[in-house]
Amino acid sequence: MFTMYTRILFALALGTFATGRSANLPSASGRACNNSPLLCSKPYDTVTYLGAHDSPYLRDESTTFSSFGNQFFSTTVQLDAGVRMLQGQIHASSNKDTGQRELHLCHTSCDLFDAGSLKDWLLEVRKWMDSNPNEVITILLVNNGIKAKELEDVYSQADVARYGYVPPKIDTPPPPSNETETTWPTLDEMINRNERLVSFISPLVPDAQNAPYLLDQWTFMWENPYLVTNPSNFTCLPDRPEDLPLQEAKESGRLFMMNHFLYWQQAFGIQVPDIRFVNVTNAWEGPGSLGEHLMTCSGMVQRQPTFVLVDFFNVGPAIKAVDIFNKVDVPVGRKNVTSNVVPGGAGMFWGAARRSAEVSIWGVGFAVLAAVVLSMVL
Ligand SMILES: *[C@@H]1O[C@H](CO)[C@@H](O)[C@H](O)[C@H]1NC(C)=O
Ligand SMILES: *[C@@H]1O[C@H](CO)[C@@H](O)[C@H](O)[C@H]1NC(C)=O
Ligand SMILES: *[C@@H]1O[C@H](CO)[C@@H](O)[C@H](O)[C@H]1NC(C)=O
Ligand SMILES: *[C@@H]1O[C@H](CO)[C@@H](O)[C@H](O)[C@H]1NC(C)=O
Repeated sequence: MFTMYTRILFALALGTFATGRSANLPSASGRACNNSPLLCSKPYDTVTYLGAHDSPYLRDESTTFSSFGNQFFSTTVQLDAGVRMLQGQIHASSNKDTGQRELHLCHTSCDLFDAGSLKDWLLEVRKWMDSNPNEVITILLVNNGIKAKELEDVYSQADVARYGYVPPKIDTPPPPSNETETTWPTLDEMINRNERLVSFISPLVPDAQNAPYLLDQWTFMWENPYLVTNPSNFTCLPDRPEDLPLQEAKESGRLFMMNHFLYWQQAFGIQVPDIRFVNVTNAWEGPGSLGEHLMTCSGMVQRQPTFVLVDFFNVGPAIKAVDIFNKVDVPVGRKNVTSNVVPGGAGMFWGAARRSAEVSIWGVGFAVLAAVVLSMVL
């Protein structure tokens, strides 16, 4: 076992070789980028970003503490506290007043868990970006067959399209940045150009004409398995895109997104975010911890992961492991949030449908069935 101290030293040394830079340099402008002046000069692909898995699906009063919620705090609180990647799922739904087609952020199905319209959520993100001009953030949306043009319409309605980062090529990732060549812009450059929002959609047929800032996730990224139900079963091997050997993933220039969250397997194949181990899952050390997983994967990939996705981001606190990897000792401008499991949030009862504008008979029936099943299990 490493001691905490040697582990930190190792992480720092690793960060140095992984980015090929001997030290983080303070920004010439004197500002803090993504909560630190030391990150301004770093290319986008050499920073590790904390990601909120299922960012809009909350386990709080608004969902009567749904056991399907993945976060205790809203997207705005997540961003305030240092989260810089927001992940969610888009589904075609309808406006509750007009009945017209409308994209929503639903968890698995809009009948079960509807976190509202994509437009409203993007507006929330945009307002935060308006008032935090030195922050670069990434959105990752799981797609269900929506075309780039329809997404672009919603991005434009929320007036967030103007922040979109447009890479030189939309169909090929650049090679990784290294000591001699930076292939992605630095955070400073992205902030100066006000192209501070990187959007990945999985999957997406890119549309350079209409939506040059909407990027297909699998062109630009690879990830390890996401469906893990045991703290000893986290791995670093590529899971998606399918059939991508590790060596190829490393050489392709795709950014590595490390999934690090646990599901709790229930009866009938139902999985809910696993609250039982989250204080260890999101911690710097311990079996199945974020810190251990980051160390293992960085060793294997020889590069710090660009993104790490966690549930209940505040617990751990997960941001600590990310700060260590980014060599940020003194973060600037974050708002405090409790690092504890939120009381009431660990309850096991079904409140998922409450936010849904239209709960179908099937949805209610299924919820009742699931509630009965869960009460039998527990
Ligand atoms: C740095 O990146 C450039 C561009 O991808 C590549 O040509 C070069 O070989 C790399 N250098 C090192 C030391 O890896
Ligand atoms: C954990 O991984 C091991 C080895 O791959 C596998 O045999 C086992 O079934 C997994 N356990 C769970 C609970 O997924
Ligand atoms: C996690 O929570 C359990 C139960 O509350 C506690 O016994 C354990 O010490 C905690 N571990 C950490 C690393 O906080
Ligand atoms: C945040 O919490 C830390 C640790 O409890 C404390 O040292 C710091 O002063 C707090 N910062 C703010 C702005 O409340």
